[in-house]
Amino acid sequence: MCGIVGIVSEREVSSTLLDAIKRLEYRGYDSVGMVCIADGVLSTKKDIGKIEEVEKKVNFTALKGTIGMAHSRWATHGGVSKRNAHPHEDCNGNISLVHNGIIENHNELKAELQKKGHHFTSDTDTEVIAHLIEENFTGDILETTRKALCRLEGSYAIGVICTKKDDELIAARKESPLVIGLGERENYIASDIPAILPFTKKIIFLENGEIARLTKEKVEVFDLKGNPVTKTIETIDWGAKQAEKQGYPHFMLKEISEQPTAISDTIGDRMTEHDILLDEEIQKAIPNAAGLKRLIVVACGTSWHAGLIGEFMLEELAKIPTEVEYASEFRYRDPIITEGTAVIAVSQSGETADTIAAIREAKKKGAKVISIVNVEGSTIARESDAVLFTHAGPEIGVASTKAFTAQLTLIYLLTIYLAKKRGLLPQPQISNRIRDIRKIPHQIQEILENQDSIKRLAELFFRHTNALYLGRGINYPIALEGALKLKEVSYLHAEGYPAAEMKHGPIALIDNKMPVVVIATKDNRTYTKVLSNIAEVKARGGIVIAIALKGDKEIEEKVDFVLSIPENSYILTPLLAVIPLQLFAYYVSVLKGKDPDKPVNLAKSVTVE
Ligand code: AGP
Repeated sequence: MCGIVGIVSEREVSSTLLDAIKRLEYRGYDSVGMVCIADGVLSTKKDIGKIEEVEKKVNFTALKGTIGMAHSRWATHGGVSKRNAHPHEDCNGNISLVHNGIIENHNELKAELQKKGHHFTSDTDTEVIAHLIEENFTGDILETTRKALCRLEGSYAIGVICTKKDDELIAARKESPLVIGLGERENYIASDIPAILPFTKKIIFLENGEIARLTKEKVEVFDLKGNPVTKTIETIDWGAKQAEKQGYPHFMLKEISEQPTAISDTIGDRMTEHDILLDEEIQKAIPNAAGLKRLIVVACGTSWHAGLIGEFMLEELAKIPTEVEYASEFRYRDPIITEGTAVIAVSQSGETADTIAAIREAKKKGAKVISIVNVEGSTIARESDAVLFTHAGPEIGVASTKAFTAQLTLIYLLTIYLAKKRGLLPQPQISNRIRDIRKIPHQIQEILENQDSIKRLAELFFRHTNALYLGRGINYPIALEGALKLKEVSYLHAEGYPAAEMKHGPIALIDNKMPVVVIATKDNRTYTKVLSNIAEVKARGGIVIAIALKGDKEIEEKVDFVLSIPENSYILTPLLAVIPLQLFAYYVSVLKGKDPDKPVNLAKSVTVE
């Protein structure tokens, strides 16, 4: 999941490229490079390391030229090294290319090109594209690139510039995201909108199999057969400021803190005091809610955890049999899609390769697809029959936080909507459940305003090396999510487990060195069972941190630490219980001297399989 930016302008571009690529660093930070053309000569600077480190070493803004590209890399083929950093060139230094994706037939192409005398300077799959263009160069860089792309198998978002046509920036995509920005006498390409939002709000979303030629005056788009394609110019409605830290030390803390707003904005005008208004948004996928026989949720990572919670909601309130599948497993399992089945894809980025493949498989088998996505214009949004957008705003931190609670909010609204359509929720209950979700933003704010106790707990535990997270019922997925947050930003091994399952194995791990975090919110379902699980941990000398309801005195004498949350309905507990776990993970990461926004080996959007 690399980051790409490119600009063709009438002015010098290197400082703007640097500004833009910094906004994409969450997409990959193994290495970074920049290339510009001035006086018919390619000049490239690149090295391994994060942007601010490499910038000090190479001084990107010394590059001259009114056309250029920059790239931040998350290594797939070829280790993390300077020679493997993008951009990559042809043999004679006339063509330069940046790429996000995987060229699956690169070995075969490389052998063919080496036989023709091409010499390679990197171990990447990407470099074959530069030599393929060189081998077929006709003088027309668009035509030559288009023909080269027809030889590729796999995924790509690319930018290409050439000294022979140094006023043209070529861009193309297949599976990996790429947008075009329209400026004043300059035009842009970028992997994600935040990179170019300070310069323009006018965006064209390139589709799979399209190729574009940008000059400073105009943008033309074609299909891979060379036919012109007419594109719509979209205007982005959120500002660049939202994609910046705005005084927070890290995006992760900012985005955790934005959850009250993200939830309110996601609810938006989809709810009145007594009704849920989703007809327009989901009619195309579910014209007949009463006839819905089965739901399959496909997602990855944190979004998959949101799906697990959705299963509880949908089965309990809407009485619809619901299965939650890892998208990466679903797509290879030849799933049975029966009549009356709809598929719900949950994704923050809308670009996760496995989830894209899963919805394509589902559609091939005749299912209608609704997606719950945070990024407008994303592939999943565009390929679904219906889209419910979370309005969490741009989520830059690699660890998903505000998008997660926004996803849960939307799934909750969908559940009530479907339950009502299926005649399962009488009006008073609908009004009560609407009242419950309306309380959530304020209740999250209350937790946020009392986060010192969470920070103090992180100070006690950040030197530990393992943790176990336990939960039951609708809180079991929150145990998984809490563990994932801690793992991905602090590199401390953490495992989420159903609380009752602990005695079937993990209890062997319990000792006084491993904190056990238990979601123990008082309810009339599993609370007493959870207390028994806590007793089992304490009986073996374990340390227990409980997430409990404010005012629960009983739990206090049974555990070592309590992090309290306000009370709401059972089915909304996850939206509150997850907040202390997000903050705990964040503070442990910072106390360990890590960068929670850019965890090692991770990237914000996994656009490769
Ligand atoms: C979440 O904190 C992780 N960064 C990761 O698990 C993420 O949820 C997963 O890659 C799915 O991404 P998506 O929601 O953009 O599809």
